Amino acid sequence: MFSSLEEVSEGLRATGYIADSVAKTTVYLAAKLQKPLLLEGPAGSGKTQLAYAVAGAADTTVERLQCYEGINEEKAIGKFDESLQRLCVELRAQSASVDWESLQIQLHSQQFFSAGPLLRALQYEKPCVLLIDELDKVDHAFEALLLELLSVWQLSIPKLGTIQATSIPFVVLTSNEERRIGDPLRRRSFYLRVEHPTAEREAEIVALRTPDSNHEFHAGMAGLAKALRGWSLEKPPSVSEILDLAQALKVLGTERVTAEMRDICCPCWPRPRPTGASCSCETALPVWSTTRSSTPPRLCEGAPHEGSVHFVSNSLRGFHLLGAGAQPNIAERG
Ligand SMILES: Nc1ncnc2c1ncn2[C@@H]1O[C@H](COP(=O)(O)OP(=O)(O)O)[C@@H](O)[C@H]1O
Ligand SMILES: [Mg+2]
Repeated sequence: MFSSLEEVSEGLRATGYIADSVAKTTVYLAAKLQKPLLLEGPAGSGKTQLAYAVAGAADTTVERLQCYEGINEEKAIGKFDESLQRLCVELRAQSASVDWESLQIQLHSQQFFSAGPLLRALQYEKPCVLLIDELDKVDHAFEALLLELLSVWQLSIPKLGTIQATSIPFVVLTSNEERRIGDPLRRRSFYLRVEHPTAEREAEIVALRTPDSNHEFHAGMAGLAKALRGWSLEKPPSVSEILDLAQALKVLGTERVTAEMRDICCPCWPRPRPTGASCSCETALPVWSTTRSSTPPRLCEGAPHEGSVHFVSNSLRGFHLLGAGAQPNIAERG
């Protein structure tokens, strides 16, 4: 699939996926050793997209099995097309002589089998990417079904027989960790934790989606993301939500978030509570600054002031402060 690590790096980048060196190396090894790649991490952190990026980089197709509670073998592997079988029997019955034995064999051949993503993935001439998405939504019994496929690259289907892989797909298993994926699958896979990106990488990702904006805007979005994630939110914003916000701001023709926009652009983000007497402003969105600090990140409202917020990587300088109604501002302390 890939002849070198550089090919993986360049290929992923060319598809617009910004990966760190651990991710690139893990993808390369999984492809080279023909092992599944298990991706775990919060929703919206880029797991599904990585599978598509790998397919783009290798110039191949994605076969996707979207898991959900109650998914069964038929959905995953496929099933006999009963209406087609019935039609065939009716047509044959009209002819004078019917060889029922050969008809029975024919009715249970692949011709009458409607393949699901797992079977289709084994039948490409050129290896595809098989994405088994959100595996944590299914139970252990379904996981066990995957073991044969992932260890010997074949599927045993009742009445149809054992189908060997024509080509070995690059398998990506993803999990949002609602349930722990079992050890047999873990053991067979290369493992990659996909966390929220560093501020530098997130700024790059935002830059790819909003190329017309300047660095200050991209870095500001990354800084806002980092600050919000440092706060104790029930569901911290993921890359995906930050990208949505950045794109929404562009559509509105602005690069700054104001209090009025908050309910439109980020309705799910809770309003920060006032953080103390020194902060009397009513601003809805947090202020963020580039202060280097050993104290944990903390959000506050309004203009930067003593005891408020903040930190972010020292290497990112010149961020916008996203205080509603406030002028862009930068606080340097520490
Ligand atoms: N490293 C990245 N490079 C480029 N885009 C990314 C990256 N990580 C996340 N994204 C973007 O974030 C969005 C959500 O990613 P997705 O793969 O659906 O998340 P997950 O599957 O982890 O829930 C997608 O639009 C994707 O393009
Ligand atoms: Mg996903």
